[in-house]
Amino acid sequence: MKTVIVYAHPWDKSYNFFILQSLVEGLGQSGHDIDLIDLYKEGFNPVLGKEELSLYSQGKFADPRIGEYQKRLEQAEHLFFVFPVWWYDVPAILKGFLDRVLLKNWAYEYSPAGLPKGKLAFIKNATVITTMKSPGWYYRLMYGNSIKNSFIKGTLKFCGIKKIKWIKIGNIENIGSQKRISQLEKIKGYATAL
Ligand SMILES: Cc1cc2nc3c(=O)[nH]c(=O)nc-3n(C[C@H](O)[C@H](O)[C@H](O)COP(=O)(O)O)c2cc1C
Repeated sequence: MKTVIVYAHPWDKSYNFFILQSLVEGLGQSGHDIDLIDLYKEGFNPVLGKEELSLYSQGKFADPRIGEYQKRLEQAEHLFFVFPVWWYDVPAILKGFLDRVLLKNWAYEYSPAGLPKGKLAFIKNATVITTMKSPGWYYRLMYGNSIKNSFIKGTLKFCGIKKIKWIKIGNIENIGSQKRISQLEKIKGYATAL
């Protein structure tokens, strides 16, 4: 199975990096053909600027690299996102990736009645893996759960991806090394079983 991972963390000693390693090992064991989009390593520019905005309503882009990212995503049967929660949302580099790559007529379209229709239904499954400092319940109750509302629903589901699993690891600074290791084992096990 062709699997694309979009990874958004700048530091190779971060917990997210260990999550990525566990995921890649597990997917490798279950025979996935992995394309890793490492946004920082690839030097992705997240700024949707004036020229690009002028083309936005036509679903066009000026930078050919955007088309290359779309082609890479078109291969995905399973799509993963791995990132830390920053300011209760996705990191800016990932937000910019969504802004610049998930373009109209490619990721979605509107019916004459003005209703959106997602065009990424060929991606059969998506899995989102996040870490954050807050406990999960606090994030949900106090801060509106924007990963679920704006990223999972307002972006991935909006674009037509139906099956989405969210693996969230909260309270990351206090869970201790045993729990951190067991979370990595769980992620590897999940990926191995796919
Ligand atoms: C710029 C920035 C913003 C952050 N915002 C939040 C936040 O809104 N909520 C939260 O619980 N943790 C927040 N954190 C903590 C990170 O989520 C946490 O450090 C990260 O998930 C730990 O994983 P890592 O070791 O792989 O970086 C933030 C961290 C940074 C650097």
